[in-house]
Amino acid sequence: MKLIRGIGELVGIVPVGVLRKQGAEMDEVISIKDAFLSIEDGLIKDFGPKSECPAPADGDEVIDAGGGMVMPAFCDSHTHICYAGSRDQEFIDKINGLSYEEIAARGGGILNSADLLHRTSEEDLYRQTMERVDEMVSKGTGAIEIKSGYGLTTEDELKMLRVIRRIKGSSPALIKATFLGAHAVGRAFSGRQKEYVNLVCKEMIPAVAEEGLAEYVDVFCDEGFFTTEETARILESGLEHGLEPKIHANELACSGGVQVGASLNALSVDHLERTTDAEIEVLKGKRTMPTMLPGSSFFLGMPYGRARDYISAGLGVALASDYNPGSSPSGDMRFVMALGCIKMRLTPEQAFNACTLNSAYAMGVSDTMGSITKGKRASLIITRPVPSLAFIPYCHQTPFIREIII
Ligand code: NIG
Ligand code: FE
Repeated sequence: MKLIRGIGELVGIVPVGVLRKQGAEMDEVISIKDAFLSIEDGLIKDFGPKSECPAPADGDEVIDAGGGMVMPAFCDSHTHICYAGSRDQEFIDKINGLSYEEIAARGGGILNSADLLHRTSEEDLYRQTMERVDEMVSKGTGAIEIKSGYGLTTEDELKMLRVIRRIKGSSPALIKATFLGAHAVGRAFSGRQKEYVNLVCKEMIPAVAEEGLAEYVDVFCDEGFFTTEETARILESGLEHGLEPKIHANELACSGGVQVGASLNALSVDHLERTTDAEIEVLKGKRTMPTMLPGSSFFLGMPYGRARDYISAGLGVALASDYNPGSSPSGDMRFVMALGCIKMRLTPEQAFNACTLNSAYAMGVSDTMGSITKGKRASLIITRPVPSLAFIPYCHQTPFIREIII
C-alpha cells in the first residue's frame, strides 16, 4: 500500500457512480481539509480526515504531501498530439495576417502536417508523440485522447493509430484513440471529396476496426471541411464498426455538426467557439458532452465558447487542450483551466470539474478517472501548499506541482 499523509486539502471527491456534472452540479467541488489517501494496486483504496489515517504497515510506502493539495490528474479529452515536426512557419504567416482558413486553402495547415507525417517513420513518429505525452504528464495530465487525422491515406492513418496503440502500452497515462480520417481531404483526392468520404467509410473505417485500433470516430464538420451529410455518413459507418462518435463542430462556422452529433448520440461535440441557442437546446437531455477548447480560441484569436450559457441551461461542459500543431500548440491543462476562468468566466470550481470529471466523461473514462473516488485509478497531482483551488488557474504559471502520481 502507498499512503499519502499530510494533505492540506484533498480536492475533487465525487461519490461512486457519478460520471459527469451538469448545470448547478458544476459549482460543487467536495474536499476534505487535513486528509490522507491510500492507494493499492494503483487504485484509490481509501481517503478521509487525518484522524482516520491508518498506521502504515511494514513495507508500505509513505508519502508526505507537506500540507499541499491533492487532486485528480487532469483528463484531456481532445488532442492531436500524434504529429510530425511542427508548423512554426505558419505561425509567422498568421502573424502576418493569414487566417487558419486561408492557410488551409493554400494547401498548408492539416495537409502540410500530413505531408511531413508521410515522410516520417513510424518509429520517429512514436518518439515525437511520446515526448509530447511525457510533457503532458509532467504538467499533470493523467488521461489523453489522441486522434489520427494527419495521415489522410489508409496506410498513414493506420500508421498513426499503431503509434497510438504502442503509446497505450508504454505510457503510464490512460490513452484513448480516435480515428479522424475525415480531418481534411487527402491530397491525392483534391477536388474529389465525395470519393475521399467513400474511402473513409469503405476502406479506412473497416481497416481500423479490423485491427481494433480506435475507440472513437471523429469528423471535422465545418465550413471548408466536411458537410453535415458527409459527417453523418462517416459517423454511421463508424458506429456500424463499433466506433463511438465524437465531432469537431462550430469552430469556423455554425456548421450543423452539433445537431448531427446530438442525433447520433455522440459522446462529445467539441470546439463550439460559435454557438447559437439552437445548439444549446438540441443538447439538453442528451448524453453528449459539450467540450470547449479555449487553447485554440487563444491561439487563433477566435471567440471563446459560451460555457456559462451551457451551464445555465443545465448542461455540463468539458474543457480540453486540442494540443495540435495548427491551432493549439500546447497541452497544458493548467493553462486551459486558466483560460476557462479568465476568458470564459467559469468559476474555478466549474473549470476544475470541466478539466477533470467532465473531460474524463468526454473520453469515456469517467468510471475510472477524473475524481477522488474509491476504486478509481490513483492518478493524482500533489501540489506545494496553495491557499485555495482558485490559486491553480489564477497562478497557472507558478510551478505549484510537487509530484505527479499516475
Ligand atoms: O481541432 N479543427 C480541426 N483540427 C484541429 C486543427 C488541426 C490542425 O490545424 O492541424 C483543431 O483545431
Ligand atoms: Fe481538434
